[in-house]
Amino acid sequence: MGGGIAQVIAASGRRVSLYDEVPGATDRALGAMERSLGKLAEKGGADPSDVLAHVTPVDGLAPADLMIEAVVEDAKVKQELFRNADEVLPPEAILASNTSSIPITSLAAVTGRPEQVIGMHFFNPVPVLQLVEVIRAVQTSDETAQAIVELAKDLGKVPAEARDFPGFVSNRILMPFINEAAYALMEGVAEPEAIDTIARLGFAHPLGPLALADLIGLDTCVSIMGVLHEGLGDPKYAPCPLLREYVAAGRLGRKSGRGFFDYS
Ligand code: CAA
Repeated sequence: MGGGIAQVIAASGRRVSLYDEVPGATDRALGAMERSLGKLAEKGGADPSDVLAHVTPVDGLAPADLMIEAVVEDAKVKQELFRNADEVLPPEAILASNTSSIPITSLAAVTGRPEQVIGMHFFNPVPVLQLVEVIRAVQTSDETAQAIVELAKDLGKVPAEARDFPGFVSNRILMPFINEAAYALMEGVAEPEAIDTIARLGFAHPLGPLALADLIGLDTCVSIMGVLHEGLGDPKYAPCPLLREYVAAGRLGRKSGRGFFDYS
């Protein structure tokens, strides 16, 4: 997602530094950007090389007006990154997270500028989907929220504001839907294809819940259900045992070649 975010920001004419500590990750992101920009250029979008010229891969956190973090959904890893960013980025910079489930308030709390920390949650594929969920931590100032709402609009996105509750709005709605689809499969109500066909053709969803879970990653789905379960304290959010079983078997979805469906 970091590459998609970098792409839309670069396409708005801003300069982007792209950093990932995983070897080869920034190269893969640049390749995905090139393919995506190629599709958009066919429809009259900007010249891919002009947009890519705004993106610079870097070897570490670099000074900027805004950081948008899109690392793994692990609170400790994100907190460490926010601590480091607080030291490296200038004092006036905003520190944003693309998290879909980690409390923004807990990220703000590890920095010396909690009022300038905010959630800026994009949706996959970032260059195509219009929504940006803007999540204010308890500490976030009105100025920071306003700046991020304005930025989202300037990127051609539609911002929608949510409070810093577990799963915010997007995953509070989406994950129980996916979890219930997994229960329907586990209980033998229908085959995976039938479950997804019902959602696609019955509710006009572009992807069924099981295919969408495969796209998001079943491990990520289990971890987000865990955040909802623990944060809201209601057993209705417990991850479906079948989801857990697939994750234990290494069936993580598209990224491992197999989840509810087989991608080999
Ligand atoms: N970059 C640029 N253009 C792209 C693209 C990309 N990465 N991916 C797709 N497109 C374009 C295609 O070129 C195509 O354009 P035309 O209509 O002009 O030909 C258009 O988008 C549609 O693509 P496809 O015909 O290939 O396939 P599709 O009709 O299935 O649409 C999709 C693709 C828009 C991704 C659609 O499948 C979709 O909306 N999927 C659901 C995505 C979704 O639910 N995302 C949310 C995930 S949840 C999340 O991100 C956050 C979280 O917290 C978990």
